[in-house]
Amino acid sequence: MPYSLLKGKKGLIFGALNDQSIAWKIAERAHEEGASIVLSNTAVAMRMGSVDELAAKCNSLVIPADATNVEDIENLMKQTMEHFGGKIDFILHSIGMSPNVRKGFTYDDLDYPNYHKTLDISAMSFHKILQVSRRLDSINEWGSIVALSYIAAQRTLYGYNDMADAKALLESIARSFGYIYGREKKIRINTVSQSPTPTTAGSGVMGFGGLLDFSERMSPLGNATAEECADYCITLFSDLTKKVTMQNLFNDGGFSSMGMSRSAMEVYNRNLDDCIDCK
Ligand SMILES: NC(=O)c1ccc[n+]([C@@H]2O[C@H](COP(=O)([O-])OP(=O)(O)OC[C@H]3O[C@@H](n4cnc5c(N)ncnc54)[C@H](O)[C@@H]3O)[C@@H](O)[C@H]2O)c1
Repeated sequence: MPYSLLKGKKGLIFGALNDQSIAWKIAERAHEEGASIVLSNTAVAMRMGSVDELAAKCNSLVIPADATNVEDIENLMKQTMEHFGGKIDFILHSIGMSPNVRKGFTYDDLDYPNYHKTLDISAMSFHKILQVSRRLDSINEWGSIVALSYIAAQRTLYGYNDMADAKALLESIARSFGYIYGREKKIRINTVSQSPTPTTAGSGVMGFGGLLDFSERMSPLGNATAEECADYCITLFSDLTKKVTMQNLFNDGGFSSMGMSRSAMEVYNRNLDDCIDCK
């Protein structure tokens, strides 16, 4: 149900690839709540995905940009402000990719050029977006910036690989830049740590089906869906959360506070004899 929480606000949303993407759901909800939005993704993703369909639905402009390329981000910011006839109120960073995960290099056998790309795409891109925004003064006072993270930033989850390092860096950037941007412009920066979600990026994680089931069993409220992530992000973009900044906020049905649940224990006990040496 729409509440007009973003009425009159202008947002820039990175990372909608197809209708499974978390950014897609956030864009839909932002539009529903009254925001005007600009969508961005790489030129390749725009060809491979269906972002034009989303743009038509949300009556928004799509501007291609590789978020690792500072020049692209500068052009994007300038075009976005021109389109809006003013500054931006909120930004969503919903970008992640690990060439090591894609190509099957494990964490103890990483390919270093790939590792660099993982960190650049999934974390440094956030710093680049923030630094360019600040230089161009493209965000309004009391603006809000959110990036999507995962609990592998704090805890080791088998198979999450170098994306765990990227998420730890991403969350640290939110704190470090959150201080600077908060002090100077009252702009808040947070990360939302989302449950495993079946998307193109999510499904690339090794053993994703098992991970999804495990966290569903471990979370008293169940896994948060992409739509529920969208609802949460809308509150963070709205004026209802003006003093929330430099936080990593869990939208995970309670998973992050659990150690063991009855539902997970039942499965664990059932398979104990078969799996005595598994670690
Ligand atoms: N799906 C999950 O289980 C899950 C859980 C927690 C957090 N997240 C995070 O949510 C975010 C969105 O992922 P998703 O699950 O919606 O998957 P997705 O595959 O739909 O989105 C990832 C996006 O990153 C974009 N991207 C990749 N390289 C880029 C670049 N160089 N420049 C600009 N964009 C680039 C892709 O084109 C794609 O649109 C990611 O940060 C991901 O790590 C996902």
